[in-house]
Amino acid sequence: MSFRLQPSAPARPNRCQLFGPGSRPAIFEKMAASAADVINLDLEDSVAPDDKPAARKTIIEAIGDVDWGDKYLAVRINGLDTPWWYRDVVDLLEQAGERLDQIMIPKVGCAADVYAVDALVTAVEAASGRGKRISLEVIIESAAGIAHVEEIAAASPRLQAMSLGAADFAASMGMQTTGIGGTQEDYYMVREGSRYWSDPWHWAQAAIVAACRTHGILPVDGPFGDFSDDEGFLAQAKRSATLGMVGKWAIHPKQVALANGVFTPSEAKVSEAREILAAMAAARARGEGATVYKGRLVDIASIRQAEVIVRQAEMIAG
Ligand code: COA
Ligand code: MG
Repeated sequence: MSFRLQPSAPARPNRCQLFGPGSRPAIFEKMAASAADVINLDLEDSVAPDDKPAARKTIIEAIGDVDWGDKYLAVRINGLDTPWWYRDVVDLLEQAGERLDQIMIPKVGCAADVYAVDALVTAVEAASGRGKRISLEVIIESAAGIAHVEEIAAASPRLQAMSLGAADFAASMGMQTTGIGGTQEDYYMVREGSRYWSDPWHWAQAAIVAACRTHGILPVDGPFGDFSDDEGFLAQAKRSATLGMVGKWAIHPKQVALANGVFTPSEAKVSEAREILAAMAAARARGEGATVYKGRLVDIASIRQAEVIVRQAEMIAG
């Protein structure tokens, strides 16, 4: 470990973030009753331009009226390149109740984007005497966002989570696809006449995880658009979990259980991790730093790996 220790990410479950358009209040109760850890009410791209003011009002009322239980409650505001974002922030913080937990900033391209929202949030919070400090989350979904991912992760003490937004990311990068996450038809290798599909989202995800882990932020995988393809969703989510992400968005309620399943460490994984910790405790008692567990090397680094899984399981159970 560097002399500068890696900070922990917020200790709250973030296995699934369920989205719904702010202009569709009929689904809010269903969202609240879902098994998602985080609810994202949307003012951005699922709301038509003419509906923005009405959706803002609808969301502000629903924050107070709906019983959100123990959900972490977030609202996605409009991007800083639009005329709507400042009023999203001001109206939410002046008019919505204290139940609101977090504001999500889309299309963040540099640290100053987060700074600007932080400054506005801080001023409105102080002026309106809000008791609870609002947290922030961002979406990395542009070439600039991924190019500046590390400075963005470090941009504000309010920042708790960072997601990869596959659709806007693909558009900004000029990627030749209309797919939202998952396997892309033309992204393959050929060997001995057979095709092997690779993962075009991999490097962006890994860059996000590294930036997040450096600065104590939760790394999250964004949307998987084809909600009829459970197998595709699961494959994408499992790759994200393997890379260190803690959760994934659901853009349809049927994706919530899939995400929760992947991002809750399985009993088999947890008991293996506990066995590794026990094997290492026994090795240490013998004065050894390395030993053999099921035919493979485990050493002091294995303790840290196993602790990641055990800590995640305990945090979710708690
Ligand atoms: N949250 C909770 N419940 C939802 C929901 C959501 N996001 N989307 C749909 N439902 C409900 C429906 O009301 C319906 O309920 P019912 O069985 O009581 O009638 C049920 O789930 C099945 O819905 P279905 O008919 O399959 O979907 P739909 O055609 O109503 O809506 C979408 C499909 C994709 C338009 C809708 O899920 C949606 O708007 N998703 C979120 C989009 C979004 O927020 N995008 C921004 C982030 S990328
Ligand atoms: Mg987007």
